[in-house]
Amino acid sequence: MALVSAKEMLEKARDGKYAVGQFNINNLEWTKSILQTAEELKSPVILGVSEGAGKYMTGFKTVADMVKAMLECLNITVPVALHLDHGTYEGCYKCIEAGFSSIMFDGSHFPIAENIEKTKELVKVCKKRGLSLEAEVGAIGGEEDGVIGKGECANPDECKRIADLGVTMLAAGIGNIHGKYPANWEGLSFETLAAVKEKVGDMPLVLHGGTGIPTDMIKKAISLGVAKINVNTECQLAFQEATRKYIQEGKDLVGKGFDPRKLLAPGCEAIKATVREKSEIFGSIGKA
Ligand code: 13P
Repeated sequence: MALVSAKEMLEKARDGKYAVGQFNINNLEWTKSILQTAEELKSPVILGVSEGAGKYMTGFKTVADMVKAMLECLNITVPVALHLDHGTYEGCYKCIEAGFSSIMFDGSHFPIAENIEKTKELVKVCKKRGLSLEAEVGAIGGEEDGVIGKGECANPDECKRIADLGVTMLAAGIGNIHGKYPANWEGLSFETLAAVKEKVGDMPLVLHGGTGIPTDMIKKAISLGVAKINVNTECQLAFQEATRKYIQEGKDLVGKGFDPRKLLAPGCEAIKATVREKSEIFGSIGKA
């Protein structure tokens, strides 16, 4: 199956009260592991690419071409969207040109008028090309790829102004944080989420920072309109732990030398397990 926009899968998720997982990719092995698991689970999936990861993989064109070739070579039949995560305005255009099927413009650090202006331009381009567009209001906390957010709660009126521009989905800050959550984290602000939902109606909502949010909060967020949940850190931690264990046991020293097929295999299995576990919590299994 060719890449698809995230629009249809997210509208189905919103109506069916489950969420589609966005799992971020960093290299060939991660991408393959996530795609194979989504296929095994018969779950739609969104592959997230940060600008830093895109650069690491030599550019967005390499990423888009690699993912498209994998869909064909792995016989992937479930819907897959290739999505820019926290894009700059310039990065969005690069991904559109490179063949991504979905874009996130993170204008949350701009004054709202500028966020609106830039989002409005991107709505036009994405509509013309049949791509889905995610916008953000109220910065997500923590640090990701050098982008530092304060973890604000979004202003519901500003969310409505951005939603009314015709974006496909909206990431509204509700106290969520990328990476590990601090011990004194106050939890998600369901009050903010409900107020945003009230203003934006049917717009599928996006929850960033999906690694450390307890399952009961995730389920409640889904019941309040969240249809896409982003996971990055959990795959990284799982990969790291599995690789560390493999090396500590000295297994990397068996054989002729560095063999990525052996050294990276435990990490790939750990990513697969993470995708299975998260998809179960999000309720996306069997929804392809
Ligand atoms: P985590 O760091 O919690 O995995 O969140 C990832 C994310 O939201 C990417 O946009």
